[in-house]
Amino acid sequence: MPYETILVERRDRVTLVTLNRPQALNALNSQVLAELLDAFAAFDADPDQGCAVLTGSAKAFAAGADIKEMQAQGIADMYAADFFAGWDRFTRTRKPIIAAVAGFALGGGCELAMMCDFILAADTAKFGQPEVKLAVTPGMGGSQRLTRAVGKAKAMEMCLTGRMMSAEEAERAGLVSRIVSADDLVEEALKTAAMIASMAPLAVLANKEMVNAAFETGLGMGVQFERRLFHALFGTADQSEGMAAFVEKRAGVWTGK
Ligand code: HXC
Repeated sequence: MPYETILVERRDRVTLVTLNRPQALNALNSQVLAELLDAFAAFDADPDQGCAVLTGSAKAFAAGADIKEMQAQGIADMYAADFFAGWDRFTRTRKPIIAAVAGFALGGGCELAMMCDFILAADTAKFGQPEVKLAVTPGMGGSQRLTRAVGKAKAMEMCLTGRMMSAEEAERAGLVSRIVSADDLVEEALKTAAMIASMAPLAVLANKEMVNAAFETGLGMGVQFERRLFHALFGTADQSEGMAAFVEKRAGVWTGK
């Protein structure tokens, strides 16, 4: 499908997806959602692709869900369409996605960044859940993911006041994995993605799955889940190769089997 609101480039084993609605600061409308779902389904299904980077522009990762698209909707439209439920499909992408965030990541933009596996932030990044100022609330998981990421005190303050968090504050609070200069953001994210994409593919899937399980299970079940997946990797050719390569002091060559 030809895309109008996103750009997709493949760099070796890394897919770079750039939100591209500059006239609306990358506000997320239904077309953006449909195009992202299509692009990430293709990425997930392509055995030559190992990791993705999702980014926006220097000014805005995304300034939120598209307010102009939502403005005229009533509860019947929202409920019948299960508005925003499509984003759940984005979160079911099995391979890793790095959010590379510069500028505004507000409302749905912050929520989309948090749906990715981790966030690399430019020093210009600003995160916020300003929906309260529109007399609504987060609707793409923000109240839940932000609270899990930064704890109740900060998440509650952000949601109730709509104030923005700087990159430094976001890093201190654990919302982003690290901060890089705005000029280096995409290259640094691509470099990190290339490193992930060079690892044994099944081990990458398993690592993502088990870290995510920490949000869905209690500690005992989570540790058990981790151990069983760890055991399962001992049925793979890449595990034999990875350990042999270490002992033989050479780089592993992966088959994804
Ligand atoms: C639709 C948007 C938009 C949005 C910006 N634009 N954000 N359009 N939806 N979320 C549009 C503006 O209308 C404007 O279009 C153009 O992008 C440039 O924006 P400006 O406001 O002129 O830019 P600036 O003055 O630099 O201010 C940047 C900003 C501001 C601080 C980010 O745009 C802003 O506050 N945006 C809204 C942020 C927000 O409330 N996000 C949460 C949305 S709700 P025109 O045509 O006028 O040039 C949400 C979750 C909803 O995400 C879940 C529950 C319903």
